[in-house]
Order: sequence, then C-alpha cells, then structure tokens
Amino acid sequence: MNASNDNQEPVAPREIKVWDPVVRIGHWVIVIGVFTAYFSGDDWQGIHVWAGYAVAAAVLIRIAWGLVGTRHARFASFVRGPGAAAGYVRGLVSGKAERHVGHNPAGAVMILLLLASLAGTTGTGMALYAVEEGRGPLAGIIAMAPEDGTQASVPSETPRAAYRDDDDEEYGEHGERGEHEEGGEGGEWLEGLHKFFVYLTLTLAGLHVIGVIASSLAHGENLVRSMVTGRKRAE
Ligand code: HEM
Ligand code: HEM
Repeated sequence: MNASNDNQEPVAPREIKVWDPVVRIGHWVIVIGVFTAYFSGDDWQGIHVWAGYAVAAAVLIRIAWGLVGTRHARFASFVRGPGAAAGYVRGLVSGKAERHVGHNPAGAVMILLLLASLAGTTGTGMALYAVEEGRGPLAGIIAMAPEDGTQASVPSETPRAAYRDDDDEEYGEHGERGEHEEGGEGGEWLEGLHKFFVYLTLTLAGLHVIGVIASSLAHGENLVRSMVTGRKRAE
C-alpha cells in the first residue's frame, strides 16, 4: 500500500479509526483518576473519593462497552488466551511480533488484569469508606454488619464528621487518628487489601506502559498517539 502521489511528498500512510471515544476518554479518565486518587489518598479525602468514583465508573462503562461496543472495543475481538499472549511476547523478543490493528494478545491479557485490579482497588476503597466512615455506596451494606459491633450504629446519613472533614483536610486535624482506629479490625484488614490492590494496579500499569513502548517500537507506530486520536495506520 504505497501511499505516494505523483506530485511531491509522500502522502501519510492511510489511517483508519480504531478506538472510539468511549475507549479513549475512558482510558485517560482512568489514568488521571488513578494518579489523582493515589496522590490524594493520604490527605485529601474529598478528592480521593471522587477520583476513585470516576475510575470505578470508567471501569464499569468499559466492561459494558467490551460486550456491546464498537468492533475493536469488544473483548471478543481481542481477548485470545495465554498461549497467544506468550507467542506475541516471544515475537517481540525475536523481532517477529505480528502487528494487530486492535489490541495485541499480550495487551489483551494486561487489559483484563488492569480492569480486575482497578475493580479491586475501587471496590475495596468503597468498602473501606463504608466501614471507616459509614459513607459511600457500600455504607448500609457493609457498615451495618460489622464483626465486632463497633461500627454497627453508624448510619450513612451521619458521617463521622468529627473524624474527618470531607475536603482538603489532613485526616488528623479533628482528633488523633490512631493508625487503625477506625473500622476496627475490618477496617485494618480492608485498608491492607485496598493498599494491596493500589500497588498491584501501579505495578501492572508500569508493565503496561513498558508493553506499549515495546509494541510501538516493534511496529514502528505511536500507540499512545493512537489512544489520543483513535487512529492507526491501516496496515
Ligand atoms: C494507571 C495507569 C493506567 C491504566 C490503569 C491503564 C489502563 C489501560 C487499559 C484498561 C487499556 C485498554 C484500553 C481499552 O481497550 O479500553 C489501556 C490501553 C492503552 N494504554 Fe493504558 N493505562 C494506564 C496508563 C497508561 C499510560 C501512562 C499510557 C501512555 C504512556 C498508556 C497508554 C495506553 C495505550 C497506548 C493503550 C492502547 C494499547 C494498544 O494499542 O493496544 N496507558 N490502558
Ligand atoms: C484507583 C482508585 C484508588 C486509588 C489509586 C487509591 C489509593 C489510595 C491510597 C494510596 C491510600 C492511602 C493508603 C495509606 O494509608 O497509605 C488510600 C486510602 C483510602 N482510600 Fe483509596 N484509592 C482509590 C479508590 C478509592 C475509592 C473509590 C474510595 C472510596 C470511595 C477510597 C477510599 C479510601 C479510604 C477510606 C482510604 C483510607 C484512608 C486512611 O484511613 O488512611 N479509595 N487509597
């Protein structure tokens, strides 16, 4: 497919639309949301929680879109299995990886892991928020059924405002925040699990970016730019 023309400069290779706006906007909402939540985790609870909700919403929409969305967004169009993923990685190493217009098979595995880890991160965040503060979408489900009874009486309408301000405040400002005082053992356990998923997500994201760079180099294309414009070289 040589794109050249009798006049002068070679014409840019033909491009096709691959990533629809749901995929692209969803991706960058997730990226910005994860980093915002990460850096606000300790100090700015209002921002933290809303960044986390944005990630959770983007993940749910992406999962639904993976079932009913456009051609390259559908899981069925790119999820292949571990054999194909390993084959693609071997191809990268030997310089013979086959180019895919949609996600490559190794990227597909990573995408599933990232979505699962993000679901774990946001789910445990909401559970922790319910147990520690009696707030959020899981308050009333989780906070009403504690193991030790200490949180049983915290209705979602009466957040423990005396413990934390909603916005932009140091957690400790309104009283000593014992390391794991809030939420009792359930809170401590959940906080550990929340942190586990946070670091799992960040580790996977680091590997994901390495994979994006490796594939971009292997196929001579800028995949990051494609995640912005939605366009890729036709072949
Ligand atoms: C918290 C960090 C990140 C997470 C959780 C994340 C997650 C994801 C997910 C779920 C997809 C699949 C997109 C879809 O089909 O909807 C994806 C694809 C992609 N991401 Fe990320 N991402 C992160 C950071 C980044 C960063 C920093 C970059 C750029 C430097 C990047 C570049 C890309 C590209 C280029 C693709 C498409 C790969 C392909 O062409 O197959 N991601 N990412
Ligand atoms: C991708 C999304 C998220 C990331 C990256 C994230 C990250 C973090 C981090 C780094 C911490 C600090 C842990 C520490 O003490 O060292 C934290 C704590 C916490 N997060 Fe999240 N989080 C996310 C989503 C959520 C969501 C959706 C909620 C609730 C709606 C939430 C609620 C909490 C709560 C209540 C704490 C405990 C703060 C404390 O007691 O210290 N998080 N999170």
